[in-house]
Amino acid sequence: MISAIGHPTFDLIITGATVATAERVTHETIAVQGGRIVARVAPGIELEATETIEATGKIVIPGGVDPHVHFHGRLGTGFNRDDFDNGTVAAAIGGTTSFINFVGATPEESGLEALQHAKERASRLAAIDFGFHLMLTDRGQQTLDGLSAAVAYGVPSFKMFMTYRKEGIFSSDGLLMEVMAESARLGALPMVHAENQDVIERRTAKLLADGETSAMGHLLSRPAYTEAEAIRRAAFLARAAGSALYVVHISSRDGQAAVGEARAQGQAVYGETCTHYLALTDAVYQRENGIDYIVSPPIRGVRDQDALWTALRTQVLATVGSDDCAYDTVQRRQFGLRFDQIPNGAAGVEVRLPLLYGLGVVPGRLSLQEFVSVSSTNTARLFGLYPTKGSLEVGADADIVIIDPEREMTLAAASLHMGVDHSMYEGMRIKGCPVVTIARGMVVARDGQFVGQPGAGRYIARSIDPAVLQQPQPDPSEDEPASLRA
Ligand code: URP
Ligand code: ZN
Ligand code: ZN
Repeated sequence: MISAIGHPTFDLIITGATVATAERVTHETIAVQGGRIVARVAPGIELEATETIEATGKIVIPGGVDPHVHFHGRLGTGFNRDDFDNGTVAAAIGGTTSFINFVGATPEESGLEALQHAKERASRLAAIDFGFHLMLTDRGQQTLDGLSAAVAYGVPSFKMFMTYRKEGIFSSDGLLMEVMAESARLGALPMVHAENQDVIERRTAKLLADGETSAMGHLLSRPAYTEAEAIRRAAFLARAAGSALYVVHISSRDGQAAVGEARAQGQAVYGETCTHYLALTDAVYQRENGIDYIVSPPIRGVRDQDALWTALRTQVLATVGSDDCAYDTVQRRQFGLRFDQIPNGAAGVEVRLPLLYGLGVVPGRLSLQEFVSVSSTNTARLFGLYPTKGSLEVGADADIVIIDPEREMTLAAASLHMGVDHSMYEGMRIKGCPVVTIARGMVVARDGQFVGQPGAGRYIARSIDPAVLQQPQPDPSEDEPASLRA
């Protein structure tokens, strides 16, 4: 017994399981001490521990890392229904042990103040560890001046919206370019919500003039080319600015292809898709409750869905986020029923990992290693959380999820824990469920019940690995005045 020869008894060991990481699939015992993974040994070696989880027949993975969450978020509307307390309960039950939340400043706050307020709130309420991305709006020089303070605070990623003009958070190409150049200087990763606003505005006006007000109008106003064009434009600008780029919530075949093209040219361009694009198709907009599926970009067709799964397998796309932005039925309808007046966003943090496993691994669209990469490790690597998060190596935080590959569940708003009264996945049956979630060595969820502690989550100050940001340098333009050079 290892503990008898000088090692203290471990806090926790997990025995008997298949251990899957982004690198390999093995059979090992995992030992946890003081919130960290301290040993991984062959199955026959006996270890002594205060608690043993016997997990034969189960799969052990690094805890999910969600790159895209809007807890306590408001995007041109009131606060959505997932806050850091109930949202992290739902996340933990669903196998997510850390997340990066979007924070935007009110007109009264600086970006740094908004981050400080969010940190104070999340430190009180969150049950799992968290970091932040800063969402930018155009406040002239103030926006650019605020970036270095955010980086110093551990927030080296900035989201800009190439859409949402009427919501007041649209960024022009000029701002994009300046933020990209400044990001390259600061070692930060700019992120874009890529949709062509001008085209969408004109199509929306035409659809409304033709009497199309239903949820189908949302889909028709935002064809896939509006996404692909904006991704290509953002990648082009990033190249010129000498910056890396992360494209959030990619929905379409053409969109992922645009990322693939930039990557094939050696650009550090990374793509994220979301669970709803992988699990649903645009048929949802014909349902009676079609407006409950209004997310931007919209959910698309089967060919798009197939292309997104393939892009995850071929590493054209790196990550899967939930884009949890939970509006309930009352909030959805607060401005009327016209498609362009519905608050965009849907709940999803709890079902991200189960859906990825059930629709990805079970039918063979993803291997176990690919599943771990896109649900956990790649996010940790890109955003400066690795190897503390996204890994089961010795020394990593003991953020561990045990999946029962045989357990089935039917998704339903009534039994899920997100703060909304409807689910996009109502009635969907999936196989393979997280049954134990461990965050820094503590069991926080077991068999669908939260057993953790609100406020146990810690803020993670991040810095991004320079290798992630490495970008071919733009040709220095001979006739560009020095004052304009990035
Ligand atoms: O429709 C969406 N995606 N809502 C959440 C906000 C955003 O754009 O990420
Ligand atoms: Zn967005
Ligand atoms: Zn989002």
